[in-house]
Formats: sequence, C-alpha cells, structure tokens
Amino acid sequence: MWEWKYPLVIFILLVNSCSGSRRTLYSELNPGCGGKCAELNVTTFYLRAEGPTDTLHYLWDFVQRPAILLAITSNSAKLNVSWDDYLINVPKSIRFTEEPEYTFGVSIEKVLEFDDTNDNGHVDTVLDQNINVLNPENFRWSRKSQQSNDKFVELHMNGENYSDTVKNITRRGNIRVVLNGFCTLEHSDVMPHMLHSENSTQVDFILENLETNKTFTKSRFGMELLVVSQESPLVRMSIDAKKSLDDEHTPGIFEVVELRTPWKMINKGMEEAEAYLQWRPVSYTTSHRDVTSSTDVIHYQLRNCSNIDKKSILYAYYGDQRNDLLMEKINITIGSSGDGFYTKTNYSTWTFIVGYGTPPDEQFSYLVIMIISIGVGLPMLIMSVAAFYACIRRLRNS
Ligand SMILES: *[C@@H]1O[C@H](CO)[C@@H](O)[C@H](O)[C@H]1NC(C)=O
Ligand SMILES: *[C@@H]1O[C@H](CO)[C@@H](O)[C@H](O)[C@H]1NC(C)=O
Ligand SMILES: *[C@@H]1O[C@H](CO)[C@@H](O)[C@H](O)[C@H]1NC(C)=O
Ligand SMILES: *[C@@H]1O[C@H](CO)[C@@H](O)[C@H](O)[C@H]1NC(C)=O
Ligand SMILES: *[C@@H]1O[C@H](CO)[C@@H](O)[C@H](O)[C@H]1NC(C)=O
Ligand SMILES: *[C@@H]1O[C@H](CO)[C@@H](O)[C@H](O)[C@H]1NC(C)=O
Repeated sequence: MWEWKYPLVIFILLVNSCSGSRRTLYSELNPGCGGKCAELNVTTFYLRAEGPTDTLHYLWDFVQRPAILLAITSNSAKLNVSWDDYLINVPKSIRFTEEPEYTFGVSIEKVLEFDDTNDNGHVDTVLDQNINVLNPENFRWSRKSQQSNDKFVELHMNGENYSDTVKNITRRGNIRVVLNGFCTLEHSDVMPHMLHSENSTQVDFILENLETNKTFTKSRFGMELLVVSQESPLVRMSIDAKKSLDDEHTPGIFEVVELRTPWKMINKGMEEAEAYLQWRPVSYTTSHRDVTSSTDVIHYQLRNCSNIDKKSILYAYYGDQRNDLLMEKINITIGSSGDGFYTKTNYSTWTFIVGYGTPPDEQFSYLVIMIISIGVGLPMLIMSVAAFYACIRRLRNS
C-alpha cells in the first residue's frame, strides 16, 4: 500500500505547486481604509489576480449582505474606494482608475427558511406564511481566518447572532462562508471538488446549528441570489443542468448546474459567455461531506429584476437603476424528500463557483482514461492474440 501512495503524494505536490500559474494573486483586507474599518470590524477583502493580458479584481464584501464584485481591467488599473462614502452606502463610492472592460456581481439577498409540510423540498408550493425571510445583513459577520499568498487565497467568515430589530427576531447559530481564489485550472480540495480556474472564485456556505422557527416542524433553508452582469439586458441569462461524464470528483453526482450570461460571438466564430455560476446539486449534511450524508440542492427559475437593493456592495458600485445591466434573481433550496429536514443534523452546505468567461468543461482525468483504456484495450488485445493464434494454427494445419 505504501509504495503506491508515494507517487500519488508526489503527483499532488506537483499539481499544487502551481507551476503552470496563469495569474498571480495579491490580496488586501479593506484596502486603503485604515483604522476606521478595524474599529467597525468590517470586512471587504480585495483580491487582485494579474494575468499576462488583464487583471481580475474581486471584492468579497461583508459590510452588509455578503456579495462579490468582479471587475476585469487592464493591468494598470487600480481600485479606488472612497471609504467614508462607501461605509454609508453612497453609490459610485467604489471605482477603478480606468473604466473596467466588464463587471459582474453576485449578492446573497435573502436566506429563506420554509416549513416543508409536503416533504418534497420545493419552496414554490409553500404558502407565504410558512416562509421566513432572514436578511443576511442582520447576521453579525466576523473574520475567522485568512490565508493568502500569490497562488492561493482563503477567507473564512462567520455570520452569527442573527438579529432583526425591526421584526424583533433573533436566531442563534452560524452561517459560515469560505471564499477561495486560485491561480490555475484544478479541482478544489473540498467536496464537491468543483472545477475552478484562475478566473474563478469558490464560495462555500455552511449553515451550522442555525436556529429554526419554533412553529415550523419541517424546516429547510434556501437562498435568494442577485446576479448582475454589465451587458445588454435584452438577452437574458440562462440556467441548465448538464450531465457530467463521470462522478470521479463528486461521488454519486453526475450533474453540474450552470448559470451563465448569454453567449456572445467572439473572433473565429467562437461563442463565449461573459461570466457564470456553477454548482453541483448536492448539499452535505455533516462535516465529513460524504455521499451517504448528502441531500439535494434544488434551483428555481431565473427571475427578471431591474433594480439593485441598497444593502450590498453592488449598489455602492453600480447605483440602484441602470439600463445597461443584465440582472436576474434566482432561488436555491437545500433538501429533498425523506432526508429528515434541516434539524436532523443541523448542518447543510452549498458550494458554488463564480467565474469570468466560459465555464470550463470537465475533462476525463488520467485515472479515468487509464480505466477506459484497460477496459477497452485489454479485451481487444486478448481478442487479437486469440485471432493471431487461430490464424497460425490454421496455416500450420494446412
Ligand atoms: C469589534 O471586534 C472586537 C473583538 O472581536 C470587539 O471587542 C468589538 O466590540 C467589536 N466592535 C464592534 C463595533 O462591533
Ligand atoms: C479616488 O477617488 C477619489 C474620489 O473620486 C479621487 O478624488 C481620487 O483622485 C481617486 N484616486 C485615484 C488614485 O484615482
Ligand atoms: C416563525 O414563523 C412565523 C410565521 O411565518 C412568524 O410570524 C414568526 O415571526 C417566525 N419566528 C421567527 C423567530 O422567525
Ligand atoms: C421581542 O421579543 C422578545 C421575545 O421574543 C420579547 O420578550 C420582547 O418583549 C420583544 N420586544 C419588543 C420590543 O417587542
Ligand atoms: C482566463 O481568462 C483569460 C483572459 O482573461 C483567458 O485567456 C483564459 O483562457 C481564461 N482561462 C480559462 C481557464 O478559461
Ligand atoms: C424578462 O425580460 C425580457 C427582456 O426584457 C423579456 O423578453 C421577458 O419577457 C421578461 N420575462 C418576464 C418573465 O418578465
């Protein structure tokens, strides 16, 4: 057993060394803010991914609703945040020294809880009074840890002590968010091992011991996302579930859900998307994240949307109404028939990728290619040897 582990370890080291690095990462917490942000305990994490021809700027923001803003600029552009304005949510308080070529944003607009009395996992058939909306900005967001070098960046946030002073509602429990930035095309270390590239970020949500509504006996959670793309709103975004070739990286899951901006014709007749979200429709219900403790992530139809709510960095960057933006909302919920509901383990995950450009396709890995080659090659070899032997015998006999 040992002998065969070493090559594997060496292989993993090679892959992780990022030798084929296509972007160099630089990151900074609350860039240019200084003492004020430290005093307020706010978190706006800035990640700059410099490539040979362009730079991706990510802002992972937790000042209000958790949100991600992505901008693509030339390599010389710099981020410029007017902190005094930004902290009181003045539109256009976030800028770049050059107008970006493209921008894309995602924010968590709502956390949903619903009483799934039918036990089918679907929120769209549930009566309004059986749905609670939690506003993500009402969690107290704090940084748990942070790790960064020029090849890998991780920010671990925790939202706790939900408190809605208007409705006088408080909830115990946590929403943890782990954000990652990468420099190459590879599968992530954590289940469901999403395929990421140097042009994407991974967002991993964990709903841990989140207090459920006492009047609900069959609670499930979900989220509403706002997705904004800087392009014409005439052609809408699309969402579909693609069957994947194998489940090598995510045991038991053969599907990838892809939400992307419209195809655009670029040179050489190639069609490309501007940006995408991608996830496996699976949620793990324990921290071991194995297939035996998992349930479904269900998504619903995209909905047209024409304004940006004040409570996220997307408002600070774009302002509230713009007719040059394509905006959509989408809901996802966690759980499916017969899984015992959220309270069975009080733990749920949802992991997705936010990326620039066309979503990368899964390739057959060497292992799968080897298995296929052996599976197809070996019988072929045996058959040809047998045929050859039969020929020889026949020749000899005649
Ligand atoms: C910021 O965090 C520190 C340490 O966690 C805490 O003592 C302080 O009260 C916090 N300040 C605010 C304004 O939340
Ligand atoms: C950043 O923005 C502020 C306010 O718009 C402006 O006064 C300042 O010159 C900008 N800084 C840079 C480096 O462009
Ligand atoms: C529980 O749900 C009911 C009905 O939707 C709602 O009136 C109440 O405020 C909720 N309680 C909490 C703690 O969210
Ligand atoms: C808020 O709710 C708590 C119990 O959930 C109650 O004791 C308190 O009086 C309420 N406060 C207000 C202002 O309604
Ligand atoms: C990442 O983006 C750059 C251009 O911005 C592009 O050349 C490259 O092919 C992209 N990488 C992937 C894996 O899509
Ligand atoms: C969404 O917007 C598009 C383009 O403006 C329009 O064609 C479509 O009918 C709208 N869909 C809904 C459900 O309103």
